[in-house]
Amino acid sequence: MTWNLNSAPKQTGRIAVVTGANIGLGFEVAMALAEKGCTVVLACRNMQKAEAAKADILTKHAKATVTCMQLDLSSLKSVHGFAAAFSKRYATLDLLINNAGIMMPPYTLSEDGFESQLAANYLGHFALTGLLLPVLTKTANSRVVSLSSLAHKWGGIRLDDPQFKTGYDKKKAYGQSKLACLMFAYELQRRLTQSGHTTLSVAAHPGVSATNLFQHMPKIIQVLSPLTSLMFQSAKGGAQPTLYAALGADIQGGDYCGPSAMGEMRGAPCKVGSNRASRDIAMAAKLWALSEELTGVRYP
Ligand SMILES: NC(=O)c1ccc[n+]([C@@H]2O[C@H](COP(=O)([O-])OP(=O)(O)OC[C@H]3O[C@@H](n4cnc5c(N)ncnc54)[C@H](OP(=O)(O)O)[C@@H]3O)[C@@H](O)[C@H]2O)c1
Repeated sequence: MTWNLNSAPKQTGRIAVVTGANIGLGFEVAMALAEKGCTVVLACRNMQKAEAAKADILTKHAKATVTCMQLDLSSLKSVHGFAAAFSKRYATLDLLINNAGIMMPPYTLSEDGFESQLAANYLGHFALTGLLLPVLTKTANSRVVSLSSLAHKWGGIRLDDPQFKTGYDKKKAYGQSKLACLMFAYELQRRLTQSGHTTLSVAAHPGVSATNLFQHMPKIIQVLSPLTSLMFQSAKGGAQPTLYAALGADIQGGDYCGPSAMGEMRGAPCKVGSNRASRDIAMAAKLWALSEELTGVRYP
């Protein structure tokens, strides 16, 4: 049977953090979680945009509890600041939705010296999850949802040059960051199981969804967007696999959720498979060690 939000139980009393919640998929996920009764923290880099999103959510769900907190995932300083502020304010965390992302921008390095997509999409979330793990693991039935993509098949993990210091290829760099997110979700679950924690780590991808993510694509694709949007699903549709991963009763640690139709580009959410590289346990361990070294965040 197809999962949908109506089949999920009320989430009253639960706390969710959604990164990149001011627009696109993150906004739709935050809206749905607020509808279900979660206290939702909009973790966004731009507070004005976050406040506007909060106002939109409250227009539809006047009784929702929505808070805005500043988080720039491409800055380790900001990630530490967010984690400290969150842990001071909240004693539990039920859902961490690692959603924020960028796709195929021109080459830039973050303030920490990381290629911008690896920084915002992966390393920032790696650090954030590590810093929030103590509060997650002490919360019963908590989950971490990491956003991957069909693009996880576009690139491998470049252990020798993860920051693309030579030969920047924006498509491969996006693929690397999304493969890293997926490998992280699987490896985190292995580690949670080994240490006897009940927190689940799961992954999701939206298929192809018409959002701002495509702002760096060639103009021709943007001009054709009324046509391509017929193939794409709406942001609300694209949010469904994330919501299924976060709330589905039959979800197990290490599951990966995506759309069920048109080669996983659109349709109702279901559990999906991923490529062989994403399941490479030896590479996942190397990526984990590299991520701890780069971010300075050591997991317990
Ligand atoms: N749309 C798709 O077809 C698709 C397909 C596969 C995977 N995904 C994944 O889905 C996730 C959401 O994408 P989307 O389509 O909703 O894109 P979007 O509409 O462009 O939204 C991206 C969100 O991430 C935020 N963000 C970007 N960099 C950030 C940073 N350094 N720190 C904090 N927040 C940051 C953006 O904030 P600003 O508004 O301030 O820029 C925005 O809120 C991404 O991880 C993406 O890789 C999307």
